[in-house]
Amino acid sequence: MDGNLKGKTAVVTGAARGIGAAIAKKLAAEGANVAVCDLKAEWCAETVAALEAFGVKAKAYGVNVAVSAEVDACVKQVLADFGAINVMVNNAGITKDGLLMRMSDDDWDAVLNVNLKGTFLFTRAVSRPMMKNKAADGAQLGGSIINIASVVGIMGNAGQANYTASKGGVIALTKTTAKELGSRNVRCNAVAPGFIQSKMTDVLPDDVKRSYMDTIPLKRFGTAEDIAKAVAWLAGDESAYVTGQIISVNGGMIG
Ligand code: NAI
Repeated sequence: MDGNLKGKTAVVTGAARGIGAAIAKKLAAEGANVAVCDLKAEWCAETVAALEAFGVKAKAYGVNVAVSAEVDACVKQVLADFGAINVMVNNAGITKDGLLMRMSDDDWDAVLNVNLKGTFLFTRAVSRPMMKNKAADGAQLGGSIINIASVVGIMGNAGQANYTASKGGVIALTKTTAKELGSRNVRCNAVAPGFIQSKMTDVLPDDVKRSYMDTIPLKRFGTAEDIAKAVAWLAGDESAYVTGQIISVNGGMIG
């Protein structure tokens, strides 16, 4: 698949570290130029340096995905800097876990605002520029939007009412986006990771990790690179006839 995304511009949110950084690197390895977005531009320096090593253009943007005006300004700046947006990866996400009986309004709102509203805001902001992408012969080039959902957005998870609701919402939003933008060749799919080794999951107690492992037929936790490979496939033309789908990358945890 090397060079699959040559000349394309991708925007990746939450790309300072973790799964987002791995996605940005994989897209760059495939030849894409990448707008590296996170809460603070300076947090993205390491990712940007790693992408530049692939010989592509990379630039950091400080943006809170939950704030409409910041998202719109970021997309405008990316268009000015790169000329077009072909791939959008909505990856930024947070958890604020707790049993629902004790969950505060603030913890509910914070998670829904970043994970679900943030995905909506970036999708809305890139949809028009993507619809305008045309080939030299006038053919509709469109674009590819990839949302990072979660296995627990499909099956639910005790202690994560806010997070599971946000990811379930991302799944429904993915299907609606695919229906609304499909006629302009803008595709929208989600990747639903299972248990991935990362800062988000490192903090879980060992007994919780062991109980997850028991449910994984492939008998290992996933890596950020496992997710990045699925995202790269959805980003490029090899998945040209795929839209509105939720691709589970979970070691077989659930079908
Ligand atoms: P992480 O916590 O390592 O990285 C998340 C990144 O998003 C951070 O760089 C953070 O600064 C950024 N971010 C947070 N709030 C933001 C905001 N308001 N605006 C802009 N950037 C913001 O998390 P990780 O593990 O890399 O997760 C990435 C995505 O994958 C998330 O959507 C998460 O829900 C999802 N996921 C992760 C799984 C895992 O096992 N780690 C499993 C399933 C899904």
